[in-house]
Amino acid sequence: MHSAVGSWRWKETQLSFSGVVLQIYSFKPGTALGQALGGRADELVFVPNSTTGVNVVAQSFALQPGDEILTTNLEYGACDAAWQRVCAQSGAQYRRVEVSLPFDREAVVKLLMSAVSSRTKLIYFSHITSTTALILPAAEICAAARDRGIATFIDGAHAPGQIPLDLDAIGADFYVGNCHKWLCAPKGSAFLHARASFDAGCDCYQLGIRARHRWSFRL
Ligand SMILES: Cc1ncc(COP(=O)(O)O)c(C=O)c1O
Repeated sequence: MHSAVGSWRWKETQLSFSGVVLQIYSFKPGTALGQALGGRADELVFVPNSTTGVNVVAQSFALQPGDEILTTNLEYGACDAAWQRVCAQSGAQYRRVEVSLPFDREAVVKLLMSAVSSRTKLIYFSHITSTTALILPAAEICAAARDRGIATFIDGAHAPGQIPLDLDAIGADFYVGNCHKWLCAPKGSAFLHARASFDAGCDCYQLGIRARHRWSFRL
């Protein structure tokens, strides 16, 4: 596949990403996109779109009754729905804090952190918001969440190609991004990044053939 991000060579692979995804077509390490995202090709998988990536993580993330996913009122509707479904199924809460206008980057970090509770398991937010095109302070939110031991997941559907993107510098545990928007790649070109070091008891979204040798099921 040739696109604005260069030539993509796919390989079928078995990546566990702390159990989030197994057997999916991934970017071969060293390809242009992996390098463009801060050399993280080994931790990327190819997904059809950001919505799929959000569903993959939402359905893999271990949630218990009473747990909380903290987010904003600015999220994309399909992704809200993905989280609302798993929260309804698990007894967790999907809690949206209201980001007021005019937009103030520092205030957003404070707002989210002031809403954190002992039940907050993950903070999920858009890098660039859908209808309002606000750039949320991704690295700052991730750093503050990390200090509190809370995982982070960024919906970067609109970020690749619009703003510089260094996944290491941002420091999110999960990041999805579309290449078929601002990179002008063909429809169906998106990535999911999960930090290899992330471990929060994620379950497995999908099993592939090689999983039978290396996966212990949690039944
Ligand atoms: C912030 C955000 N997230 C996710 C999406 C969904 O993108 P896709 O349909 O490629 O999954 C959009 C679509 O515009 C969006 O604006």
